[in-house]
Amino acid sequence: MKVDVLLGLQWGDEGKGKVVDVLTPNYDLVTRFQGGPNAGHTLEFGGEKYILRSIPSGIFQGGKMNIIGNGVVLDPLLFKQEAEGLVASGHDITKQLYISKKAHLILPTHRMLDAAYEAAKGDGKIGTTGKGIGPTYTDKVSRNGVRVGDILNQFEEKYAKAKARHEAILHSLNYSYDIAELEKEWFEAVEYLKRFQLIDSEHVINNLLKEGKSVLAEGAQGTMLDIDFGSYPFVTSSNTICAGACTGLGVAPGKIGNVYGIFKAYCTRVGSGPFPTELFDETGKLLSTLGHEFGSVTGRARRCGWLDLVALKYAVMINGVTQLIMMKSDVLDSFNTIKVCTAYKIDGEIVEEFPYEINDKIEPVYVEFPGWKTDMTKMTSEDEFPEEYNAYISFIEEETGVPVKIVSVGADREQTIVRYEE
Ligand code: GDP
Ligand code: IMO
Ligand code: MG
Repeated sequence: MKVDVLLGLQWGDEGKGKVVDVLTPNYDLVTRFQGGPNAGHTLEFGGEKYILRSIPSGIFQGGKMNIIGNGVVLDPLLFKQEAEGLVASGHDITKQLYISKKAHLILPTHRMLDAAYEAAKGDGKIGTTGKGIGPTYTDKVSRNGVRVGDILNQFEEKYAKAKARHEAILHSLNYSYDIAELEKEWFEAVEYLKRFQLIDSEHVINNLLKEGKSVLAEGAQGTMLDIDFGSYPFVTSSNTICAGACTGLGVAPGKIGNVYGIFKAYCTRVGSGPFPTELFDETGKLLSTLGHEFGSVTGRARRCGWLDLVALKYAVMINGVTQLIMMKSDVLDSFNTIKVCTAYKIDGEIVEEFPYEINDKIEPVYVEFPGWKTDMTKMTSEDEFPEEYNAYISFIEEETGVPVKIVSVGADREQTIVRYEE
């Protein structure tokens, strides 16, 4: 069998968690391959709401195996809080959750470094989630990282070495901090981590594939936040794209099957950085209010705007998307007119390819669609779709050349319409 990948095509928060949960019954294993607790994946079912940060979103469906892959960065303390929260709500995950020994650890001083670097950037700050993601991946790439497997062997020594290096940098940045309490809790959380099965996940995953088992890889963040192809430097520090699933799990490119690209029927972004279709008017506020667009991890307001097909087509290309999944179209249910950006105008020239530089010079070129003006939140089948809604989907399919397989018309697990089965 192959690994299907589900990933965000915009600036994150597309609704990945919800759809991974919905698709999990079709798979034997669900696994995260990059990012860390900067992610906030929301799932709603049975009147309850859960927000997952490091634990894959396949954890609630029928005791399925879930793996935190080698490409992930893991903060033991945030992980402990998340896991304990699930156990307290009646979901004992210890037997079904496995963690790669090669995943890198987020140390307390990584969090401090994240804050110090942001402070040093002043107005140019990225607006990170403050979880230490950038500094942890920096240590990984500069070959100074500490990995999950290290907690099993002479850990204190490795930790002290990394901490001393971080402290020297923090000192040079004149950043004052006190991590005594945080450090104590962090070490308790490292002990807690040992309750879980720490594995060589690349062997486990490839062996499962050989046995004919199916795997769903759950992306975090989104393509426009990818370290290589996103709106650099306003990006995260990992490869959020499909290729990231190969390096973040240890599976060969030929083992990738379907690539599910997920996008909102409009667009949002949290943190700093360019956003060509951002709306600063009443329509933007309406999207924010109706879409409850506040970060699930930081609570920060998400910036809102129209769907950007220039960026979406780019994301489809980079990821080799085979099926699209459109989320939150219910947020547009009451709109008279819906706009879609099909090109950028830069210095009077029409540009249809996503350009190197995304800046204030970009004027989005829009086409307008009549809204469907229908409450779709209780719909269960494509047969009920209003004509205008079908026209909106068809346009996106024509522009991207990829079919929209699933649409989501509400936050609940049930509010999901699969348009066709493979
Ligand atoms: P993720 O990070 O990609 O998993 O997405 P988030 O969970 O951060 O953000 C998506 C938000 O939209 C969450 O609050 C979800 O509960 C909610 N959501 C998901 N799908 C839909 C939908 O189709 N309609 C509405 N109204 N909300 C949705
Ligand atoms: P999910 O998985 C939306 C953004 C931050 C910031 C930039 C870098 O829930 O879609 P980082 O802490 O990663 O160094 O921050 O990336 N960001 C996200 N935005 N959803 C996310 O995750 C994000 N993870 C990081 O706001 O702009
Ligand atoms: Mg999120």
